This record gives sequence, structure tokens and C-alpha cells, in this order.
Amino acid sequence: MNNTTNRQITLHHFGSPAEVAQLKRNPVPEPKPGEVLVRSHYAPINPADLNVLEGRYGKLPPLPAVIGNEGGGRVIDVGGDIDTFCTGDQVIYLQRNDCWQDFVLARPEQLLIVPDALDPMAASMLKINPSTAWLLLHHFVDLQPADWIVQNASNSGVGQAVIAIAKAKGWRTVNFVRRDELIAPLSAAGADLVVLDNDAGKATALEAIGNAPVRLALNAVGGDSALRIMSMLAEAGTHVTYGAMGRRPLKIPNSFLIFKGLHVRGLWLSRWLNSAPRAEIENVYSELVQLMLKGKLPQPIDCVFAPEQIVQAIQKASQPRRDGKVLLDFRPTGSEER
Ligand SMILES: NC(=O)c1ccc[n+]([C@@H]2O[C@H](COP(=O)([O-])OP(=O)(O)OC[C@H]3O[C@@H](n4cnc5c(N)ncnc54)[C@H](OP(=O)(O)O)[C@@H]3O)[C@@H](O)[C@H]2O)c1
Repeated sequence: MNNTTNRQITLHHFGSPAEVAQLKRNPVPEPKPGEVLVRSHYAPINPADLNVLEGRYGKLPPLPAVIGNEGGGRVIDVGGDIDTFCTGDQVIYLQRNDCWQDFVLARPEQLLIVPDALDPMAASMLKINPSTAWLLLHHFVDLQPADWIVQNASNSGVGQAVIAIAKAKGWRTVNFVRRDELIAPLSAAGADLVVLDNDAGKATALEAIGNAPVRLALNAVGGDSALRIMSMLAEAGTHVTYGAMGRRPLKIPNSFLIFKGLHVRGLWLSRWLNSAPRAEIENVYSELVQLMLKGKLPQPIDCVFAPEQIVQAIQKASQPRRDGKVLLDFRPTGSEER
């Protein structure tokens, strides 16, 4: 019926990410009643994808599996019994963890329609990092205008989304980074204060904010970096860990819990996506899409690879000091036929 195959990035056993991800070609699926067929366009490689490949994530698929935690594309076929999607709709995959393939057969509740005006690269990165930043800023502390937030790994996808959303809402950010060269671009992007992630950087930050209380600390690193931002919290402040890039556990001084009354929390986007009412999820993404359309929520891209270059793509995504996300480009070529 067609001469097109479905390129899928598959995982057969856990291990070193660039060694265990494999490109396979399988037939293109056909939608049955109640299903939507989506043609993928772009998909980013996130730290969570690397963790899945390694077998070190909160939830792992039974193997073999097609992998990829987010991405987007366009609807190309709609099975019977569905009137909420049309051919041509731009969508992102919400409740799917097999996004690294040309064609995804999805149920309507696993997808979210996004405006045509949204750049497809930006759309492919909407599901995870912007919403994680939104939840970090809204679900733990009732932030007031001009409140200070402190975070580490501030140039990460989540970190830059925190800066952008906080700016849009009138909250101020202290941002710790590992590299001098990030201070100017993050400041230009709206960060109120950017300092190096060391004790001298903390001293600079404390001097700059004066006596203003810091009510929220956002941690994606762990170890000494997490302790540094936690130590800047005011009494009864909240520390939220959502990532562990440094692969070091939290060190929490007893006095922070006993005398300062700090709240130490965690966030996993998947838990929210699996439990929040659909209307709440749609409202959050709608707000994020509006910010993106106004150019107020940039998601920088380092480079783009074809699925055939999956090894190089994963090697690049595994490296530190990137200038943004590594994307996989699944867009159809002119010769594609179904
Ligand atoms: N809990 C959730 O639901 C959730 C959702 C989204 C993301 N996350 C987590 O949030 C973290 C950031 O994700 P992302 O996609 O925003 O990241 P990203 O854009 O890929 O950026 C990675 C960041 O980590 C820093 N980094 C890398 N290795 C490090 C190390 N050994 N020590 C300290 N910093 C290091 C990088 O700094 P350089 O640029 O200087 O190398 C960069 O700031 C990840 O741990 C991810 O799994 C969690």
C-alpha cells in the first residue's frame, strides 16, 4: 500500500546511551476507530531520555521499546469515532514515551493540539521543560510580586524557562551557573542576577539581594550546589529538587529542618500529567503557548540531527556545555508516500 517505512529509535537492553539506541524500520501503522495517526516532525533529546537508555529513570519501559519522551508533528489520518482532531492539526505528544519515530498511533487524550503559528521545533519542546518550570513556580509557594527565587543549572532548558516565566510574572531570579560565559546571555534573557555556582557567587548574590527573603529554591544538580541554594532560603522557605545532573545526593543540615523550618520537596512532571484534570493541563499549556507565541519563552537549540545520526545525536546530547537542546528531525521528505 505504501513505500514508506516508520523509522523508530529502539532500545533492546539498557546501557551506555549512544551504544544501546538503535534505528529500526517498521511498517507504517494504520489508525483504527478511536485512533489518530501523527507524522512526527521534531523531538528533543532530554536528560530523561538518556536516563531511560541507561536504565536509571523513575519509570522504565518493558524492552524492546521505542523510546523518546516528547515530540510533535501533524495529524495525517483519523480513525472513525473521532471528531476532535482533523488532518493537518499540529499536535504534541502528551502521554507518550515512544516519540522517537516517524509515525505515532495515538488516542486523542494522549495528544494536545497546538496553534499552527507555533514553530514546530518549539512545539516539540513544549511538553516537558516549560511545564516543569511552570509547576516549579506555581505549585509550592504562593509567590508575590518581586519575590526572589534561587535556582542552579540556570542555563538548562528548565532553568531558562524558569527565568522567562518568572520575568513574565514579575518574580525575580538569582541564577547559579557553572560557566562565566553564561552570565551575559542569561542576563540579556531576563535573569535578574547570574552568578557562578561557588561560594564567591553566593556571597555576591547575598550582597545584591540584601535582606530580601528568598522563598523558593529550585535544584537540578544536588550535592554542594543544592546545599548552596538551600542555604539562601529564608525561614520556612521551600526547596524543590526536580533533577540530579550532578548525580550527588542532597545534604541537608539538621538545623535547616529544625531551626529554619525549611520545606524540602520534589517534583516529577509525569506524576502531574498522569493525575491532574485535563482542563488544568490544557490551561497550563495554553498559557505557555501564549508566552511562546509572543517570543517570551525561548527554548534554545544547539543542533539538529537526522534519525540516521542517532549515535552522534546522543553523543552530543550527553555532552556538557551545550548551547541548547539537541533535536531529532523526523520531518517527511518530499518523496514520502502513504
Ligand atoms: N522532575 C521533572 O519532572 C523534570 C522535568 C524536566 C527536567 N528534569 C530534570 O531537570 C534537569 C535539567 O533538564 P533540562 O532538560 O533542562 O537540561 P538541559 O537543557 O539538557 O541542560 C543540562 C543542564 O545541566 C547542567 N549540567 C550537566 N552536567 C552537570 C553536572 N555534572 N553538574 C552540574 N550541572 C550539570 C548543564 O550545565 P552546562 O551547560 O554548564 O554543562 C545544564 O545547565 C535534568 O536533571 C532533568 O532530568 C526533571
